[in-house]
Amino acid sequence: MASSSFEKFKSDGTLVGNVVEWVDARFPMTSMWKAHLSEYYAPKNFNFWYFFGSLALLVLVLQIVTGIFLVMHYKPDASLNASGVPVAFASVEYIMRDVPWGWLIRYLHSTGASAFFIVVYMHMFRGMLYGSYRSPRELIWIFGVLIYLCLMAEAFAGYLLPWGQMSFWGAQVILSLFGAIPVVGNDLATWIRGDFVIGDSTLNRMFSFHVIAIPLALLGLVVAHVLALHEVGSNNPDGVEIKKHKDEHGIPLDGIPFHPYYTVKDIVGVVVFLMLFSVVVFFMPEGGGYFLEFNNFIPADPMVTPPHIAPVWYFTPFYSILRANTVNFLWIDAKLWGVIFMGLGVMVFFFLPWLDRSPVKSIRYRGPLYKGALAIFVVAFAILGYLGIQAPTPGRTLVSQICTIIYFAFFLLMPVYTKLDKCQPEPDRVTFK
Ligand code: HEM
Repeated sequence: MASSSFEKFKSDGTLVGNVVEWVDARFPMTSMWKAHLSEYYAPKNFNFWYFFGSLALLVLVLQIVTGIFLVMHYKPDASLNASGVPVAFASVEYIMRDVPWGWLIRYLHSTGASAFFIVVYMHMFRGMLYGSYRSPRELIWIFGVLIYLCLMAEAFAGYLLPWGQMSFWGAQVILSLFGAIPVVGNDLATWIRGDFVIGDSTLNRMFSFHVIAIPLALLGLVVAHVLALHEVGSNNPDGVEIKKHKDEHGIPLDGIPFHPYYTVKDIVGVVVFLMLFSVVVFFMPEGGGYFLEFNNFIPADPMVTPPHIAPVWYFTPFYSILRANTVNFLWIDAKLWGVIFMGLGVMVFFFLPWLDRSPVKSIRYRGPLYKGALAIFVVAFAILGYLGIQAPTPGRTLVSQICTIIYFAFFLLMPVYTKLDKCQPEPDRVTFK
């Protein structure tokens, strides 16, 4: 039985057995192994969508490991070297050309950033498909949204580091948004930049945030996320609580030990993921200009604004929401409305557990209203993402305004349409065959 992985060594008089016993008398190794792996009972009906949690963990580790090696050679310095190129930019070029395997480490890290968002968006969407944010998993979800916020901050700070044109001008656009806040805005923007303009102090503090402050917060949140999950147990594609039906030993009838069953299953996901990931890293590391923007291969120049500034793809839905606000209304100008709506666009995810009033969790048993609303939401989110990359025109702005309304309507009308929806009864047990 898998649950005895460590115990089988114990008291067998061998060196391994003695070491396990010695450690266990001083540290909860076996009990933690059991609680989180060999005796953590996960529903037996996990499907494709359940690969993305472990993949997110994998990418987190990948980013940390490759990041450690990048920091060995990168220099956060905006001053110009003898060739007139910013030292930070030149240090990235040095990693790419002169550091042995530096190109690989850098492309793993830059591709890893986009992969992280792809994986996390799929992971969040799974939560929305199966109602995984619903009671008793609200805290797992809240930790998740905090992780998402940290990821955005982490990606933003990281993007500044190569000190290319898009690093500089993207940061210019985003940090200037703080200036839209009434009264304290300008002082706040100066405080965040550490200067009146984006410069060396901004680069140094973003470096500090990127390599230590935010990763620490991220790691702490991921631990809290998984601990909260293991406290209440995993949801599943049927949205039924497997803890309701246990055998005489207290083991859920529809559960299987996470290790070895899901550790092995997750390896399949990891292999497929690494195959796709490698295709990008080795054959198209710029990702068509979406993963690494072409303008960022030009050193930052405060005197030359690029003709078209667009954030990296994973920010573009929110960037579209920002730009969709074109009207001064009440005493608030359009730019500040943009900032408010962009912020609300992320914050609204926190409230999902309380906005959803459906009697069932999983999309499998929900009625047409939720299914339709979720489909329209996904389409609107994708259109917002696409428009965020394009230069604005009156027509595009109108479409992004419509999609912004759809985006918020999905959340704000949720208490109504989930209540009215004609759901099917949830089964008592999972429907795995
Ligand atoms: C660094 C980023 C993240 C990591 C490493 C991570 C890790 C995990 C892992 C390992 C699981 C269990 C396996 C699984 O159910 O797939 C999980 C479950 C979950 N995560 Fe995340 N997660 C991350 C981000 C997020 C975000 C951004 C959200 C939502 C905003 C979120 C919401 C959830 C929910 C609701 C569950 C429970 C799912 C269920 O039981 O059906 N996670 N996470």
